[in-house]
Amino acid sequence: MAHPTRLEAVHADLTAQEVDAIVNAANPSLLGGGGVDGAIHRAAGPRLLAACRPLGGCATGDAKATPGFDLPARWVIHAVGPVWRGGTAGEAELLASAYRRSLEVAAELGAWSIAFPAISTGVYGYPKDEAATIAVDTVCDHLGQHPDALDRVVLCAFSAADLARYEARLAT
Ligand code: AR6
Repeated sequence: MAHPTRLEAVHADLTAQEVDAIVNAANPSLLGGGGVDGAIHRAAGPRLLAACRPLGGCATGDAKATPGFDLPARWVIHAVGPVWRGGTAGEAELLASAYRRSLEVAAELGAWSIAFPAISTGVYGYPKDEAATIAVDTVCDHLGQHPDALDRVVLCAFSAADLARYEARLAT
């Protein structure tokens, strides 16, 4: 499969990414949590939680945006991935949907660059290899279908092993 050059994987802290929008691996309450969600709220400052409250939560597989406040990123797109329940509860489609909806919300905002964490692969327990495949394939499909939507999509790995997963899939 040919991959657009606009997609890259990096080993970095998502909260430091200098992109128009970073994606949060949120939960349906949108009221904060641990993992990358906690890191984003700490880096963005307390105004982020205040901006999340009126959103009224978010369904699994969907995404909603707020400003980025103290982050380098102008926006945070809060996406809710699925909890891993063994793979027969629609997890793959819900995870792909979380990526797709984030890209759609980015386009609605007018964002040209976006960075993702490995949604669902921490507390939510999604197997990392499968999740990396879904992330790369879903973003590639979207970029292929919307060639003018985004300049740059970054898959942000929090470990060298996670980066290797992305690179392996990008090389296929
Ligand atoms: N930069 C990049 N990636 C990170 C960072 C960071 N600063 N911190 C963690 N990761 P998780 P989930 C990676 O657990 O599985 C929260 O409590 C981490 O290594 O943050 O979708 C929410 O409120 C992993 O690969 O998100 C929800 O309740 C990935 O981010 C729940 O966790 C996602 O891990 C969501 O669980």
